[in-house]
Amino acid sequence: MQSRMVALEEGKEPATQFRNSPSRPFPLGLLKFFLLFLVLGFGASIVSMYMIRRFGIQNMALGQSTFMPCFEQPTRVESLIRPPSNLMHNMNDSDLFWRASFVPRIKSYPFKRNPKIAFMFLTKGPLPMQPLWERFFKGHEGVYSIYIHSLPSYTADFSPSSVFYRRQIPSQVSEWGKMSMCDAERRLLANALLDISNEWFVLLSESCIPLQNFSIVYRYISRSWYSFMGAFDEPGPYGRGRYDENMAPEVNLSNWRKGSQWFEINRELAVRIVEDDAYYPKFKEFCVPHACYVDEHYFQTMLTIQTPHLLANRSLTYVDWSRGGAHPATFGREDIKEQFFKKILEDQSCLYNNQPTSLCFLFARKIAPNALDALLDIAPKVLGI
Ligand SMILES: *[C@@H]1O[C@H](CO)[C@@H](O)[C@H](O)[C@H]1NC(C)=O
Ligand SMILES: *[C@@H]1O[C@H](CO)[C@@H](O)[C@H](O)[C@H]1NC(C)=O
Ligand SMILES: *[C@@H]1O[C@H](CO)[C@@H](O)[C@H](O)[C@H]1NC(C)=O
Ligand SMILES: *[C@@H]1O[C@H](CO)[C@@H](O)[C@H](O)[C@H]1NC(C)=O
Repeated sequence: MQSRMVALEEGKEPATQFRNSPSRPFPLGLLKFFLLFLVLGFGASIVSMYMIRRFGIQNMALGQSTFMPCFEQPTRVESLIRPPSNLMHNMNDSDLFWRASFVPRIKSYPFKRNPKIAFMFLTKGPLPMQPLWERFFKGHEGVYSIYIHSLPSYTADFSPSSVFYRRQIPSQVSEWGKMSMCDAERRLLANALLDISNEWFVLLSESCIPLQNFSIVYRYISRSWYSFMGAFDEPGPYGRGRYDENMAPEVNLSNWRKGSQWFEINRELAVRIVEDDAYYPKFKEFCVPHACYVDEHYFQTMLTIQTPHLLANRSLTYVDWSRGGAHPATFGREDIKEQFFKKILEDQSCLYNNQPTSLCFLFARKIAPNALDALLDIAPKVLGI
């Protein structure tokens, strides 16, 4: 290429000179000199074109059909949409959130996209319910992905055959009720957003179990018109009582919502949470323990202001507050009876796509580690897992 350009310029140069000095006789020696250059330049360009063609042909022989003079791999859409092969990266939260907020403006995908559910586990360390989850995911490769945020001091040792193998994301210390907890949730969302195939995002903890088989969970979530973010307006001291007037005008008392931390949201809402810089500073400063617990209010309130029409205003995760106190009930080995699941799975009523249904929960917490064996026994019968 280079030499061909040289040749063109060589060819142009004399012509300009002739035009600029028509009356002066041109010395014969100089003309010969220019002709020699012209011939050399021409020769060089022919050689280079031949070389380029040869390289092109060689590449075709290797199975690459594109003409490539610059030795680069051709860009295919597959390489732009492939999920990261290694979940570990060196981006800090600013880098990560910025990258995760990329959104295509053309809404129809020019390729076959298998929308996936991202299961995001927010844990301290081990996953005691792992064997049950392994059963749950088995046979559904390609329509789910898994992300785990644990304390940075914890080193996971899942075997290569596990669905949890190398699914840890770069994590930081997070504490219940504090903004560091929401930071961890945003970090999970941002990492999951890097895979363009993830369409729905479910937040789970180590004490969560599935209540239905994968097919039912996938169908329930993918066909829902709404995202399952619990959000309600509670008048008492634990609801509106936690609102701080300093949050206005971004958040007024009438906007204030409370709800379960455990959500399922779609890609649009996930991007909104990751990109937020309007509500984040208000909640970080004015929703702090023990007056306020930010994981029960921040996303719930923010999404109610921005996209109320996309929220189901209920959570998919069953939790029992009926025993009272600051923490929900934990279920152990002795609780795992058919009767227990009948209560959660049948004796309920809620709306699904505006229709009444008794299938309201797809997950449950908090399940103690000692309940695992009983669960594995009963799961085929009552959970279809
Ligand atoms: C992330 O790193 C960049 C520099 O690489 C820095 O400017 C930015 O403040 C960092 N952000 C956080 C949240 O640490
Ligand atoms: C999932 O559960 C439903 C209802 O319990 C059942 O009809 C279906 O066959 C199950 N699917 C699989 C793949 O086991
Ligand atoms: C809060 O109230 C103020 C004053 O009435 C209004 O300007 C603002 O838009 C409200 N904020 C929201 C999020 O509704
Ligand atoms: C959820 O609540 C918001 C108001 O907070 C409302 O606009 C929306 O319609 C509710 N969603 C459903 C499915 O009823």
